[in-house]
Amino acid sequence: MLSVHLCVVSMALAEELFTDDITLLGGTFTSFLPEEAAIQVAAPNLPDSPLRDQQLAGFSIFHRRNGRREGLGPVFVHSGCGQCHTGNGKGLVRLDRSGKRPGSMIIKVSLRGLNDDGSPRDLPRIGEQLQPLRLRRKRFVRNRRVRRPPRIRWSGVAGEFPDGEKYRLREPRLRFRVRGIRNGDIVASLRMTPGLVGMGLLEAIPEAQILEWSDPEDLNGDGISGVPNYVPEQRSGEMKIGRFGFRGSHPTLEEQSAAAAFFDMGITSSIFPGRGLRADGDTPELSESDLEILTLYQAFAGVPDARNQGDPEVQRGKVLFQEIECSACHKMNVTTEHPTEPLLSGETIHPFTDLLLHDMGPDLADERAEFSATGSEWRTTPLWGLGHLPTVSRRKQRYLHDGRARSLQEAILWHGGEGAASRDRYKELSRSDRAALLAFLRSL
Ligand code: HEC
Ligand code: HEC
Repeated sequence: MLSVHLCVVSMALAEELFTDDITLLGGTFTSFLPEEAAIQVAAPNLPDSPLRDQQLAGFSIFHRRNGRREGLGPVFVHSGCGQCHTGNGKGLVRLDRSGKRPGSMIIKVSLRGLNDDGSPRDLPRIGEQLQPLRLRRKRFVRNRRVRRPPRIRWSGVAGEFPDGEKYRLREPRLRFRVRGIRNGDIVASLRMTPGLVGMGLLEAIPEAQILEWSDPEDLNGDGISGVPNYVPEQRSGEMKIGRFGFRGSHPTLEEQSAAAAFFDMGITSSIFPGRGLRADGDTPELSESDLEILTLYQAFAGVPDARNQGDPEVQRGKVLFQEIECSACHKMNVTTEHPTEPLLSGETIHPFTDLLLHDMGPDLADERAEFSATGSEWRTTPLWGLGHLPTVSRRKQRYLHDGRARSLQEAILWHGGEGAASRDRYKELSRSDRAALLAFLRSL
């Protein structure tokens, strides 16, 4: 019986196998510049125009180190976008230990439960993110409201493949204390800095397509549902699909950027003007035009090319990726349609995400819900650029929302919940098939 069943499944899949060449991961945004440059410099299709000049101007805003003059602080995590997103890539998995040297991870915090509108409940006198540093004159000193610099303790988790090969994973435990609030009342979510690849194109994945991929009741019975996170767009007050952040917290690139300026650096903008204790005055510290340029910089940066697509091992990995249904969430092909920007529309792209939330099981979960996303739901991480990011990150790259995975294989082995069946199929592959799948991921 079982073999008949398997045969039907693989035949159904065979018909749908996506075999197009994916070298141009970002359509005409694909850049053949080396590594770091590919994802920073304007995409090759961007005409010589004021837009191109703005993209270039955005580079310096993104990569500068901010000080008081630029509005840094009073409290913050780090001093510049590019200080965490080094070379636009992933950040180091490291917290500030000394109280003086900024780390590039963030810790989202709130009180247990949600507000009536579904938003997390801010910690009194702290807000929604720990900001362990404070600016005193020109020096970084500890923010005393965070009682001790947060720390990560790693513990090992052992596992085994069906063929007997053993592996060892590691899991973080986060520790911190906030003055005046009991630890039991606080829920927290640790995040590493993700790489920024194809941000404008992610904004251009049509809403109708995302909803078509979504299958909340799992009607097709594949064990994978996928739901959008609906979050308020600050500018309009409307509920929109959250596309950015590991839990889909922000609907647009502009709002994600303004949120980063505010929560990571204490820099106010028209979207996050600051309130209560953190109000820094009425004029936004990040001007409207600088926010626009910062957004354009990311939206129109290039997407790296996929490499070695003719290599037989990579090709085999690409088939396996679909056969074991990684592609059920990491969607391989979509045509863009941006709501306002024609240049970002009509591109055939291969982002390897559905931008939906999936329940990834208890092992990856934390307790901090965010709007419709529960603590075990995560947005499918785009996989384009995966093979380029190690060079950008100087070989210190880590994977998953909290950077617990030290290799691509570890990232796969942590998949639980809706991803468990796919992970188990990976574990059942032969050694050489596993290697082929990983070679395919590294080609992206
Ligand atoms: C302290 C380190 C840090 C700084 C500084 C920082 N970021 Fe981030 N960035 C992160 C982390 C961590 C996330 C993941 C957030 C989440 O999961 O909600 C992120 C997420 C993002 C995303 C969403 C990526 C995706 O795949 O959805 C964008 C875009 C972004 N940051 C842009 C910026 C910009 C622009 C700045 C400067 C204004 C900035 N960041 C400053 C750490 C940082
Ligand atoms: C049910 C949907 C789903 C399926 C199926 C799935 N993934 Fe994922 N994948 C996710 C989500 C969600 C994340 C983010 C999890 C996190 O950060 O904790 C992720 C993260 C990853 C990452 C880490 C990327 C990074 O930069 O951090 C890799 C690599 C990955 N998946 C590869 C695979 C492969 C290979 C398969 C098939 C064996 C697969 N995934 C199957 C949803 C899925």
